[in-house]
Amino acid sequence: RDYEPLQVMISGAPASGKGTQCELIKHKYGLVHVAAGDLLRAEIATGSDNGKLAKQYMEKGQLVPDHIVVMMVKDRLLKPDAKDNGWLLDGYPRSLSQATALKGFGFQPDIFILLEVSEDILVERVVGRRLDPVTGKIYHLKYSPPETEEIAARLTQRFDDTEEKVKLRLNTHHQNVEAVLSMYKDITVKINGNVSKEEVFAQIDSALTSLLEQRKAASGSV
Ligand code: AP5
Repeated sequence: RDYEPLQVMISGAPASGKGTQCELIKHKYGLVHVAAGDLLRAEIATGSDNGKLAKQYMEKGQLVPDHIVVMMVKDRLLKPDAKDNGWLLDGYPRSLSQATALKGFGFQPDIFILLEVSEDILVERVVGRRLDPVTGKIYHLKYSPPETEEIAARLTQRFDDTEEKVKLRLNTHHQNVEAVLSMYKDITVKINGNVSKEEVFAQIDSALTSLLEQRKAASGSV
C-alpha cells in the first residue's frame, strides 16, 4: 500500500449501532477498532482504582473524567497496529475537551461518521442487547438473535443496559453532542441508523470507499 491508512471516527447516541457497524467496517477495511467503552470495561475488569472510579460514572450514565479516558485512548492509538493499519475510533471524543486533547496529540480523523437513530428505537435496542463473553459478539434478542442454544445460554447483559440507565446516558449524550459535532463539521457524514444493520453498513461502506478512492488517486496508486 502506498497511501496513508484511513483514520475514522464513529459517533452516535447510546445503542445507535456503533459497535455493530465497527465489526463490519473492521472486517472489510482492516482498521483497528478502538472503543472507549470497551477500554473502560477492560479497566474495570482489572480491579484497578481507575476502573473502580470509572464504574461509578458509568453506572450513573455520566462521562468518565478526562484524566482516565484521554490517556487510555491516546496510548491505544499510538500502538503500532493502529498506526500501520489505520484506526476506527468509537465513542471518543464525547466532549469538546476530549476532542481538543486528541487534536493536541496530533490525531486528525479523515471522516466523522454520525449514526442518527430515533429515541424510541434506541431504548428498544438497549434493553434487547446481549453480549457473548466468549467471542465478544453483540446480539439483540429480536434483531440479531444468537445462532445456537449454546450461545444463547451464555449471553450476558451490560450493567448499564436498563431503560432507566439509558435515559441517563441519552441525557449525557444530548448535553455534549453539539460541541463535538462543531469540531468535525467539515468531515461529518450523517448516516440514517434506523434501518437494518446491512442497510446502515451500505451507507457507511459507500462513504469509506469513495474516501479511499480519492486517497489512492491523490497518491497516484491507481
Ligand atoms: P459505550 O460502551 O461507548 O456505550 P454507548 O455509547 O452507550 O454505546 P453502546 O455501546 O451502548 O451502543 P452502540 O452504539 O455500540 O450500539 P450496538 O452496536 O451495541 O459507553 C458506556 C459508558 O462508558 C458511557 O455511558 C460513559 O459512562 C463511558 N464512556 C465511554 N466513552 C467515554 C468517553 N469518551 N468519555 C467519558 N466516558 C466514556 O447496538 C445496540 C443494540 O442494537 C445491539 O443489541 C445490536 O444488536 C442492535 N442493533 C445494532 N444495529 C441495529 C440495526 N441497524 N437494527 C436493529 N438492531 C440493531
